[in-house]
Amino acid sequence: MSSTAYTRPSKPPGPAGERRPPRLAKELGRIEPKKLGIGLVAGCCLALLTYISFARLFAIYSPVFESTSLVMKNAPPGSTQQNPVMPKQQNKLEDEKDIGEDETGRKEPSFPEATEKKETVTKSSGDETEATISCDENGVDEGFPYARPPVCELTGDIRISPKEKTMFFVNPSGAGPFDANGEKKIRPYARKDDFLLPGVVEVTMKSVSSPAVAPACTRVHNVPAVVFSVAGYTDNFFHDNTDVMIPLFLTTSHLAGEVQFLITNFKPWWVHKFTPLLKKLSNYEVINFDEDNEVHCFRRGHLGLYRDRDLIISPHPTRNPRNYSMVDYNRFLRRAFGLPRDSPAVLGEKTGVKPKMLLIERKGTRKLLNLRDVVALCEELGFAVTVAEAGMDVRGFAEKVNAADVLLAVHGAGLTNQIFLPTGAVLVQIVPWGKMDWMATNFYGQPARDMRLRYVEYYVSEEETTLKDKYPRDHYVFKNPMAIHAQGWPALAEIVMKQDVMVNVTRFKPFLLKALDELQE
Ligand SMILES: *[C@@H]1O[C@H](CO)[C@@H](O)[C@H](O)[C@H]1NC(C)=O
Ligand SMILES: *[C@@H]1O[C@H](CO)[C@@H](O)[C@H](O)[C@H]1NC(C)=O
Repeated sequence: MSSTAYTRPSKPPGPAGERRPPRLAKELGRIEPKKLGIGLVAGCCLALLTYISFARLFAIYSPVFESTSLVMKNAPPGSTQQNPVMPKQQNKLEDEKDIGEDETGRKEPSFPEATEKKETVTKSSGDETEATISCDENGVDEGFPYARPPVCELTGDIRISPKEKTMFFVNPSGAGPFDANGEKKIRPYARKDDFLLPGVVEVTMKSVSSPAVAPACTRVHNVPAVVFSVAGYTDNFFHDNTDVMIPLFLTTSHLAGEVQFLITNFKPWWVHKFTPLLKKLSNYEVINFDEDNEVHCFRRGHLGLYRDRDLIISPHPTRNPRNYSMVDYNRFLRRAFGLPRDSPAVLGEKTGVKPKMLLIERKGTRKLLNLRDVVALCEELGFAVTVAEAGMDVRGFAEKVNAADVLLAVHGAGLTNQIFLPTGAVLVQIVPWGKMDWMATNFYGQPARDMRLRYVEYYVSEEETTLKDKYPRDHYVFKNPMAIHAQGWPALAEIVMKQDVMVNVTRFKPFLLKALDELQE
């Protein structure tokens, strides 16, 4: 089964049955639109079938991406266009189970039972707030290769002393998930990854028997606290979203700004970069947990953030009880950045509007070598094309993306910018050689569907990759790309992630027509 899928050549979109011809394409008068249809969806199902065997291999991926300097560095990045980092699998998957994808190829996440222990610990005398602590610690995501990190929620008398890296919790009975010293330690970064976690500041929750043995409050807050870390793969735009902003949105957006953030592994440039989003979620100045000397008192607090999958969030009784979707996240981003467009341009004879395409350029790895030819083709088909590369100015780039009807890029973190597209716009992903179906689908394809974008994917053939200049055609790179995956992440990073692509414009054209067609649905 898997061999069928990974030797699968890219197919142009299949025949469409009775679909009406695309109006715009006709009106442009240059092209005879091909019949377009459901081939991509079928292809996607095929891709997901390979996941069963792929998941087994996933276990050996190391999370080191390209260079370890990406990790933990505190300096601003030179570029935000690196690829998502593959985390190491924490728990071996049950490969044969959970193949419950529907016809779109989506794997429904399953909800592990009994993930939450809620304990009403005690009533603190003379105090109206009940002391409770509940921790969600069994974040295994059946059917997905990584587990979620623990998150704890507390109510009662909570005193946060950043200097001691401690949340004191007045808890006369001592009950709760504490060790013999009355402590529980968590590294509150929202990606469970053994490689990263040592670099994340460890925060201790300390159960104390009375207020007398807790430090005295120097500042009292009337809103809940949320303590989290921005250490890790942040500065890669994919991870900025998957490991911090989406978890923060899931955990706090219902509080409508009435929440105090305390950030560990504080990176001033990062906080500055994401200030418009942080301000939308919290009405209060962020507290730098690494340097603050106060004792902050709260009646409620979170240590850590809830997370789901990467750019995928699904309803869940504890993790996402308000059933937020990626569409909600996109709307939040548009409001935070003041992005005007909620839907793509209306095309057609009357408006005479040209569809706008933004082509995200990668200048490091996975370059599109014949970018000019591709731009020329797109223009020939009627697109108004802009080529750009994202940088430190998130809002500026978000505006460019939001102005587009179609976003086109080679696989990489730049595709994360789809979060700024108007709902209903089209994402076109060019997937390089090397059996990258799982990553293409789970990092960008399924998220696009969840954001109610239209999604078109183009798998390059062996003729279209620079790997053909490095390896003979009978090499396993071409004959059996899964063998690269089997060697682990370093081989994948070195071989697959570093290729450039030269798209065959004849072969690519039907996919662009498909994108045009989608805009007119
Ligand atoms: C969330 O979705 C579940 C079903 O997935 C439903 O039972 C529940 O009522 C929903 N909650 C809200 C707040 O809409
Ligand atoms: C480009 O693609 C077309 C259509 O699939 C094919 O006929 C042609 O041989 C390809 N060109 C090259 C140089 O591979």
